[in-house]
Amino acid sequence: MKILTVVGARPQFIKAAAISRKIKEQFSDHVHEILVHTGQHYDLQMSEVFFSEMGIPEPAYNLGTGSGNHGYQTGEIMKGLEELMLKEKPDGVIVYGDTNSTLAGALAASKLFIPVIHIEAGLRSFNKTMPEEINRIATDHVSTLMFSPTVTGIRNLESEGLVHSGTAPYHIDNPGIFHCGDIMYDNTLFFRKRSEEISGILDDLDAQKDNYVLATIHRPANTDSTKRLENIMRALLNISQSLKTEVILPLHPRTSLKLQSLPDRSFVEKLNPKNGIHLIPAVSFLDMIQLENNARVILTDSGGVQKEAWFLKKPVVILRAETEWIEITEQGNGLLADASTEKIIHSVEHFLNNPPADFPPVYGNGDAAREIMEIVTTVQWR
Ligand code: UD1
Repeated sequence: MKILTVVGARPQFIKAAAISRKIKEQFSDHVHEILVHTGQHYDLQMSEVFFSEMGIPEPAYNLGTGSGNHGYQTGEIMKGLEELMLKEKPDGVIVYGDTNSTLAGALAASKLFIPVIHIEAGLRSFNKTMPEEINRIATDHVSTLMFSPTVTGIRNLESEGLVHSGTAPYHIDNPGIFHCGDIMYDNTLFFRKRSEEISGILDDLDAQKDNYVLATIHRPANTDSTKRLENIMRALLNISQSLKTEVILPLHPRTSLKLQSLPDRSFVEKLNPKNGIHLIPAVSFLDMIQLENNARVILTDSGGVQKEAWFLKKPVVILRAETEWIEITEQGNGLLADASTEKIIHSVEHFLNNPPADFPPVYGNGDAAREIMEIVTTVQWR
């Protein structure tokens, strides 16, 4: 079986690591994987470092697409992928998550009648102003096999008319829909120990275990609005000063750029280590796990970081109005604070005083990649 896997953005390198590792370990007799990097993310710290550190095979192709508006980026990736798919003639194409690379891979493959396998299907924020929401919906509706990490995801697919018939052969008009664990959990378990052994990030930052909050911000809704970005940064400064808890913020390149152009320069100048704010470049996966694992509270607008907080039993303040990972908020281990300075401060304060203790295993048991590959290699879909 020849599988072409499309990756392009940071979270996809992480997800692909789990599946590629499993293919190498247990399925290499049946599956030949061709990895394609679209080039959506290209900085060393956003791309290469994940390949070297997580043992992801060198991509067979790199389309070198780079940044651009959504139409340009998605279109360029589609053009490149179509050419490759015609040349390689894969039996199926694996796409992950909800990025422009996911959408481009799904559209290019489905138009060539190549079955699409969507890993992390069914997630919805019910907010179509997010580019990711459009990408997820469109991808699911052209997929042949869908793997959802949550029961909620399966229900979301059903409510859009995508229902598992239970009868193979599966195809684009009779998709196979499966509930499996979360492959990101596989990675957290696999890399946590190595992260403790190798990562020197806490020493580098002179950070003390359980004595800081970790924050990440990268969603366009937060970075492209001066008001929202400022509101969040004001909350972070307040947390470090009033709550006496240092803040560590690894920066996505876009967030870094936007911070540099915030109009209130005197405020931006206060965001420094002397005031307990550590703005650092984007970090590698092992450093991120280490930072997450030793934080008191995690603040984020990322989907992946919300789940990693859960896997590592940390409370999370979600810098959005809604989340796809509703299990976390339903359990009370995550609070939606949007970009409200007050809500963010109160949520952090709440978790500093009441750390949650119960994290039931709603995202599987860390064996999702095997579950997924068992299904891909046994059910009839091609
Ligand atoms: C993308 C995904 C998002 C995912 C995120 C993880 C889409 C629509 N969004 O968002 O779902 O959570 O990746 O990071 O696909 N940039 C660099 N260097 C890089 C990469 C990006 O400087 O290596 C800058 C560029 O200025 C670029 C901007 O970041 O324009 C945004 O990158 P882009 O690929 O458009 O999407 P992300 O915001 O990273």
